[in-house]
Amino acid sequence: MSFLQLVQSRRSVRRFLDKPVDRALILQCVEAARLAPSAENVQPWRFLILDDPQIRQKFCDENFTGLYRVTRWAAQAPVLVALLAEKDLLANRIGKQITGIHYYLIDMGIAGEHFVLQAAELGLGTCWIGWFSPDKARRTLQLPTKYEIVSLLALGYSADEAVRPLKRKAQADICRFNSL
Ligand SMILES: Cc1cc2nc3c(=O)[nH]c(=O)nc-3n(C[C@H](O)[C@H](O)[C@H](O)COP(=O)(O)O)c2cc1C
Repeated sequence: MSFLQLVQSRRSVRRFLDKPVDRALILQCVEAARLAPSAENVQPWRFLILDDPQIRQKFCDENFTGLYRVTRWAAQAPVLVALLAEKDLLANRIGKQITGIHYYLIDMGIAGEHFVLQAAELGLGTCWIGWFSPDKARRTLQLPTKYEIVSLLALGYSADEAVRPLKRKAQADICRFNSL
C-alpha cells in the first residue's frame, strides 16, 4: 500500500473488538512517534499507555462523565494512550516568547499522527480524543507537574464494518500557489 493509499483508507475508529493489542505492536507505534521531528529537536513527548483493564476502566469511569460523557465510547478501546508533553522546555519557552507559536503542540500533533498512521499500517484503529478534561485526567493519572496532557488516543482492532466516506474540503479550496 502506498503512503497516500494508507492515508486515504484511515478512518477514526470508535467501536472496537474485544481483543487485546500485543505490546510489540503498541511499541512499534511508539517507535514511529519517537522518530517524529520536533522544533529544536526537543522531543517533548511522553507516551503513557493504559492497557491494564482495571486501570483503563478507572480512568474511563473518572474522566468520561458529565460534560465528557460523549467520550464514553472510548471505554471500549483495549488501549488508551495519553500523549504527554514536557512543559517549559527552554527552547519552547524562548521560541514562544519571540514568535508566539506553541511549538510543543505542533510537535505533539506530529508525533501523535505518526503513531496513528503506524497503527493504521498494522491494521489497528485509532481515534484522537480531545474531548476530556486535562485537569481531571492529570489527577487520575497522578502526573508530575512537569507534564501536560495534550490528547488521548484510543487504540484497538476496529469493529466498524462499513467504511465511511472520507469527507474533506477540495484541494482547490485549501491550496493556493504564491498568493492567497
Ligand atoms: C486533535 C483531535 C481531537 C479529536 N477529538 C475527538 C474526540 O474527542 N472525540 C471523537 O469522537 N473524535 C475526535 N477526533 C476525531 C475527529 O472527529 C476525526 O478525525 C474527524 O472527524 C475526521 O474523521 P476521520 O478521522 O475518520 O477521517 C479528534 C481528532 C483530532 C485530530
